[in-house]
Amino acid sequence: MSVSPIGRETARVDGPLKVTGRAPYAADYHPDGLVHGHLVLATVGRGTLRAMDVTRAEAAPGVIAVYTPFQPVRLINTFQGFGAENYVPLQDTTVRFRGQIIGLVVAGTFEQARDAAALITADYAGTPPRTSLADAGPGRSQDIVQVLAPGVASIDDVLRAGPVTITTTVTQPAQHHVAMEPHATTATWEDDQLTVYSGAQMPQRSAPAIAAGLGIDPAKVRLICRYTGGGFGGRSPAWNEAKLCAAAARALGRPLKVVLSREQVFTTVGHRPAVRQTVRLAAQADGRLLALAHDSDAEYPAAGGWPLIPAQHTSGVLYRTPNLRLDQRLVTLDTPSTWAMRAPGEAPGSFALETALDELAARTGVDPVELRLRNYATQHPVEGRPFSSKHLDQCYRLGATRFGWDRRPARPRSRTDGDWLIGMGMSTAAYPTDREAATVRVRFHDNGRVSVASGTSDLGTGAWTVLAVAGADTLGLPVEVIVPELGDSALPPGGVGAVGSAVTANTMPAVRAAGRAAIGTLLRAAVENPRSPFHGLDPADVSYRQGRLHSGRRSMGFDELLRAIGTPALDAIGATDPAQDSPYAFHSFGAHFCEVRVHRLTAEIRVNRFTSVFDVGTVINARTARSQFIGGIIWGIGHALLEADPIEPDGRYAAATMADYLVPVNADIPDIDVHWLGYPDPHISESGARGLGELGTVASAAAVGNAVYNATGIRVHDLPITLDKLL
Ligand code: MOS
Repeated sequence: MSVSPIGRETARVDGPLKVTGRAPYAADYHPDGLVHGHLVLATVGRGTLRAMDVTRAEAAPGVIAVYTPFQPVRLINTFQGFGAENYVPLQDTTVRFRGQIIGLVVAGTFEQARDAAALITADYAGTPPRTSLADAGPGRSQDIVQVLAPGVASIDDVLRAGPVTITTTVTQPAQHHVAMEPHATTATWEDDQLTVYSGAQMPQRSAPAIAAGLGIDPAKVRLICRYTGGGFGGRSPAWNEAKLCAAAARALGRPLKVVLSREQVFTTVGHRPAVRQTVRLAAQADGRLLALAHDSDAEYPAAGGWPLIPAQHTSGVLYRTPNLRLDQRLVTLDTPSTWAMRAPGEAPGSFALETALDELAARTGVDPVELRLRNYATQHPVEGRPFSSKHLDQCYRLGATRFGWDRRPARPRSRTDGDWLIGMGMSTAAYPTDREAATVRVRFHDNGRVSVASGTSDLGTGAWTVLAVAGADTLGLPVEVIVPELGDSALPPGGVGAVGSAVTANTMPAVRAAGRAAIGTLLRAAVENPRSPFHGLDPADVSYRQGRLHSGRRSMGFDELLRAIGTPALDAIGATDPAQDSPYAFHSFGAHFCEVRVHRLTAEIRVNRFTSVFDVGTVINARTARSQFIGGIIWGIGHALLEADPIEPDGRYAAATMADYLVPVNADIPDIDVHWLGYPDPHISESGARGLGELGTVASAAAVGNAVYNATGIRVHDLPITLDKLL
């Protein structure tokens, strides 16, 4: 019996290609006749373009074409309601935000296009943009959720009455995905058939979205995204740059590549909205909650984007409380399009909630872990459904033990190590597992390989390897003989998208279904094909085990059978479509513990230690799972201490370069101790696996902030926590 690879450490199957530079990313395709495009972006925050002077650009070396609103290439606005970018570039002269696309220069080389683009001047009639969330009043409610105990007329009465009341308002400016790979698109037409190479979390949604922008049949567009240097939400839609590239390639009759500069990435392909949140709590003196209210006002651009609702999966999930209200509001600003970013609601929402809980712990004198156990929810606080599998209490206890929580100074600013103040903080993570339909094709080949194909993509998270592990487990074969295929809109339709930490949990059962169906196809061929040694046998008398067919004493490998019957490959499709109306609520959970040191003179902040324990159901690949958890925690450390892009009154981002927009580097990150419990979720699917990708990001920032408070006695409510706020 071969050992199942499930849960073991499996090295990335795409690792060798990546470290040797042979994995092609979107800008690594060089079709014959390729030309290069460079975007021109608006330099005012709001207004109208009166004129653009392109004469010098058109005369510059190598320039082939210049497109502007005054000499456009046509694109169709397919905006279909709320929650997406609501304009397409070059179709009108309106400037909606600073950094909007107002031109595309095409030339023989990237450098020629970039240099010519710099020669274009634009004349604007400007009006002051609305950019300040701080100056804006409450936005319009997007989603109000309210649960009231019998006899309670208004949650405000409970929130006022106490006995203990907490009001915590936290703010954070815009943050950016800053994926390692800048967005890029290579578009090539063959007659009326378009192939687009572009980063896409959902190739099978991006391809038709590009087709719609061009006004062509979706069947004519194939999108390929084999390798991507990070998505984090920023590659979930097809952005205007991809549509514009495809449209210009069509107009020119030549393959075209558009690669964004690092600065252009900051304004054209989404960011996490600035948000202000207030959490109000009423509790008994022993810390038990009587009411929880979470209000938020998030930036929502006039140009459209993704609406941030931070409370739904944090304050709406984590704690038992008789009264609950979530009011998630949006404020219209003239800023670049917002988009979902890595635990999009949960990361900001959990910072607000878990900071407020820490304040309640400090006020009541109840230990923060004990406080969370006293308010432990065994069913979804809003929906009333039990959780499918929840062992968060063990995460708290095991995490506290591994971390040494009992050594936490109960009184802030009471432990020192030389000139350093030492503090410890903790927080709770939760992330929903959406159950989505998935389709997978399993194909036996006569060379002994088996391909496992899904229309999803791998953003660097490990989906290539999960397909290989899942295929190997289902078919009883070594991981090495499985050939995963993904990142192509032409693969079997219905593949789940690489969003919402959903790929592994949703693809696993589809691989099983496809594997079983493919074995069925193989067995049928074995008894039906006259050239098969099993021909004529009762199908019930032939079995498949570990890549071989058996009947009595006869046995042969699937590849031998395929060669014997002269068939290069046999396959089957497996599809799963989990019922959405489950009696259970599906969430993954975790507990974070952080120790920081803060210099007593300079207020330099360093994270000393980080321990997290997660409850995510079955882990499929220990190596890539750990990597996701660690990566998420690093995001949280960046969220707490570094990441911020304040916007200036003219609509310009103050930190729209990698020199100014700070993210953690190795020197900022200590050893991170990650552990998981490993209880299979009996209700999610037969694989027992829930999503885990984004979970580490949730609330890790709050653990850092709570540790900083414990070290210094100072509570910083405006992220990021920089040393000036501690002096
Ligand atoms: Mo993710 S923010 O669900 O791409």
